[in-house]
Amino acid sequence: DKGGHKHFMAKEIAEQPSVLTNALGYYIQDGNIVLPDPGLDFAQIDRLTMVACGTAFYACLVAKYWFEQIARLPVEIDVASEFRYREPPIPKGTAALFVSQSGETADTLAALRYCEGKVDKIVSVVNVPESSIARESDLPLPILAGTEIGVASTKAFTCQLTVLAILAIKAAQDRGHMNADQVAEALEQVKSVPGLMSHALALGERMKTMSRKLAEARDILFLGRGPMYALAHEGALKLKEISYIHAEAYASGELKHGPIALVDEHVPVIVMAPRDALFEKTISNMQEVMARGGKVLLITDKQGAKEAGPGVWDTILMPEVAPFVAPILYAIPAQLLAYHTAVAKGTDVDQPRNLAKSVTVE
Ligand code: M6R
Repeated sequence: DKGGHKHFMAKEIAEQPSVLTNALGYYIQDGNIVLPDPGLDFAQIDRLTMVACGTAFYACLVAKYWFEQIARLPVEIDVASEFRYREPPIPKGTAALFVSQSGETADTLAALRYCEGKVDKIVSVVNVPESSIARESDLPLPILAGTEIGVASTKAFTCQLTVLAILAIKAAQDRGHMNADQVAEALEQVKSVPGLMSHALALGERMKTMSRKLAEARDILFLGRGPMYALAHEGALKLKEISYIHAEAYASGELKHGPIALVDEHVPVIVMAPRDALFEKTISNMQEVMARGGKVLLITDKQGAKEAGPGVWDTILMPEVAPFVAPILYAIPAQLLAYHTAVAKGTDVDQPRNLAKSVTVE
């Protein structure tokens, strides 16, 4: 049942404020972070290794910034297909964390099995509680997104991020990097996301117009810094999967090390830049793109748009958001742009060519 939407993907995008609220209610009770048994004390571990594929890997990439910044916990991340054959040495005091919507992705499961007996704890962040990955973990953490049917992952991604944000706050608390007030403030920020998402979802019509222009492009670049670099990857992956337009993500600072050679008036460059500590740096990279005739679509907030100045091709104005949780909110424009571009191109949004929802073979 598409619930009155044209596609499952549209329905699943729209559901995000409500499924996120479910996840928040499960993990935050009376202002405290509650994990299912046996729980996890981050003060007992020295490092975290996170492994996943596709969109779930980009959730890990965002989480790496979170864990390292707020909990000062060293994090290693890898895509499962590389990790499993790389057979990395695992130092004592490591916890391994696997992220998977289906819980059945062959490479992720094999990576988990590689870690058995080598790590202190196997944690998973999954949508399907009875899945293999959940069953083989010491601590399976449900994301409570409900069934996801669209091949392009949307609500699972933001639910994964929500659970990982809460875990990062718990890690900061356990490791003595946040006091009770700071924990309460960070949890309030996470709780503010569903409301802000509803505002961001209202930008759908605006994105539709924008997407008609994007549908004509052959190549599209996505740029971001910090956690927004991960979102740039997620935006590019979504667009490739369902619109079949070639899209590439770069860390803004890497632009001048090669990819800027691609920039001309035919290549839209989507810059994801909420007004955060790295904003000015990203904007200066954006100006380098514009100086070479690049067409910039800037996704930012009101203050960001003001400071970025004139000359951009178009701007998507997002609600103001605490920088910590901006990556969850900025998934919305990444998803909506891909969705509307695919619709404008007339592709099969829910069942794109060559792709399966659950990749159970390597
Ligand atoms: O079920 P999983 O989360 O383990 O799946 C991982 C990837 O196959 C998945 O995220 C894929 O990249 C999606 N089609 C992305 O939209």
